[in-house]
Amino acid sequence: MQSLQTLALGTAPTDIEKAAQILSDGGLVAFPTETVYGLGGDARNDLAVARIFDAKGRPRFNPLIIHLPTLGAARQFAQFTDTAERLAAAFWPGPLTLVLPLKQGHGLSPLVTADLSTVAIRVPAHRVAQAVLTAFGGPVAAPSANLSGKISPTSAAHVAAGLTGRIDAIVDGGDCAVGLESTIIGLDGAPTLLRAGGVPAEAIEACLGHTLQRGGDGPKPNAPGQLASHYAPGAKVRLNASGKEKGEVLLGFGPCEGADLNLSPAGDLVEAAANLFGHLHRLDALNADTIAVSPIPETGLGRAINDRLRRAAAPRPCP
Ligand code: TXA
Ligand code: MG
Repeated sequence: MQSLQTLALGTAPTDIEKAAQILSDGGLVAFPTETVYGLGGDARNDLAVARIFDAKGRPRFNPLIIHLPTLGAARQFAQFTDTAERLAAAFWPGPLTLVLPLKQGHGLSPLVTADLSTVAIRVPAHRVAQAVLTAFGGPVAAPSANLSGKISPTSAAHVAAGLTGRIDAIVDGGDCAVGLESTIIGLDGAPTLLRAGGVPAEAIEACLGHTLQRGGDGPKPNAPGQLASHYAPGAKVRLNASGKEKGEVLLGFGPCEGADLNLSPAGDLVEAAANLFGHLHRLDALNADTIAVSPIPETGLGRAINDRLRRAAAPRPCP
């Protein structure tokens, strides 16, 4: 990836405005929350979200948490059940993330939700996070601001050590008080602990008046993205296609003849990632027997794209 000038911002009003402007322009800004520093991008902008995965070097498009300043703002994106309302009233703003069914017309990039029908939402309490989110005025997708596989950052210096040159700005708001990621509760069905974190499970159980189902320490069993054949389109998928055969539509990459859609004619992997889910949906709607896909290099974001395409091409369970 090209090297960026990473701007060091403080918490003065002009700095917060600058951070919000960078987000509006599709750039990436790391900012403090009470749990860990998040790497934020506009959750409605496919390219901004693709850049988050690229900057972190994530080998997979696992779904991201969206951050909003208030419960009222969060209600625009997800369906809040009575249980969700109760937990939000008790623990927001704070280190709790709720996974809820998406609302019609949510406008989020499918890369944020990994094309699932649910979205993870958090309203952080940190005053600097609140200031950035309020100034921006939209949903901010933010995983922890570290390179994939490294420890989550609890200071601006940690963020800078990993991500300088890879993101547009870092807002330095001091050390994070909690130092541990948010607790994630799945509410698409019986309330389930998907990840232990900043709010103890016992406090959530006391609020609900019953025990939580355990999804294991980490969202694996409930993150269907981990299953081999999830996200499969209706059509079959054929990888590494050099051209299209009878009954096929072709999803191209790079200079490519006869493509019905092209992930990136210029061969740019960030652009390709930004287009991946949208293009697959569009081609699937053509009702072809098979979607053939040009080879994608196994470097940078190409690894995450290929991971997702391999899942789409995996043998399906019998209907
Ligand atoms: O404290 C935190 O939660 C930090 C700060 C920055 O807010 N963020 C964070 O994000 O830890 P990240 O991307 O590192 O972790 C998000 C987790 C992942 O394990 C992902 O699988 C899960 O949330 N997740 C997101 N959307 C989901 C969904 N729709 N269903 C199930 N799990 C989901
Ligand atoms: Mg993380």
